[in-house]
Amino acid sequence: MAEYWNVNPDYEISAKSFLADKPEADVSLEFEIAVKDFVNAGKGSAEVKNTLKRLGVDPAILRRIAVASYEAEINVTAHSEGGKMYSYIYDDSVYIRFEDKGPGISNIEQAMVPGWSTADDLVREMGFGAGLGLPNIQKNSDLLHITSEYGSTTTLEIIIYYS
Ligand SMILES: Nc1ncnc2c1ncn2[C@@H]1O[C@H](COP(=O)(O)OP(=O)(O)OP(=O)(O)O)[C@@H](O)[C@H]1O
Ligand SMILES: [Mg+2]
Repeated sequence: MAEYWNVNPDYEISAKSFLADKPEADVSLEFEIAVKDFVNAGKGSAEVKNTLKRLGVDPAILRRIAVASYEAEINVTAHSEGGKMYSYIYDDSVYIRFEDKGPGISNIEQAMVPGWSTADDLVREMGFGAGLGLPNIQKNSDLLHITSEYGSTTTLEIIIYYS
């Protein structure tokens, strides 16, 4: 299984120890993401954003969380056989994990390159496929971890701190 990591050095210690411990969250939310369901994909990230807004998270941070989680949600509906979004809300951070049913990413480093896309015609008709989602997820998150390989599932994890 291939693996890709990107961590904001300011949060490296907290993020790695968080992943090692996975403490119980204050709030957790689960969403099903169906194949090519551009009507409902995006609802999970909207719900997370609204919940965090109610908790008083700074608007600039909310925007980063919304962008990163929306792009990941769209990737599951656009490029996979469907999957799930699991969101865990803490008092200092949010941890979101996307698990899909495959077919996986053959070369994660290549998939991270801005402009690289395998989006099919339907996905492009829906306005996606610029190859900018993964770079955007990386730019907006404090931790990004992807595990995947072609013929298998993809798991994408992000952590974003509120301050
Ligand atoms: N969950 C996934 N399963 C399989 N392949 C994926 C998944 N997520 C991303 N990919 C692959 O990585 C490529 C790049 O993803 P990225 O989000 O950067 O761009 P895109 O989805 O093609 O276009 P955009 O996000 O700009 O609409 C995709 O075209 C696809 O080949
Ligand atoms: Mg995308």
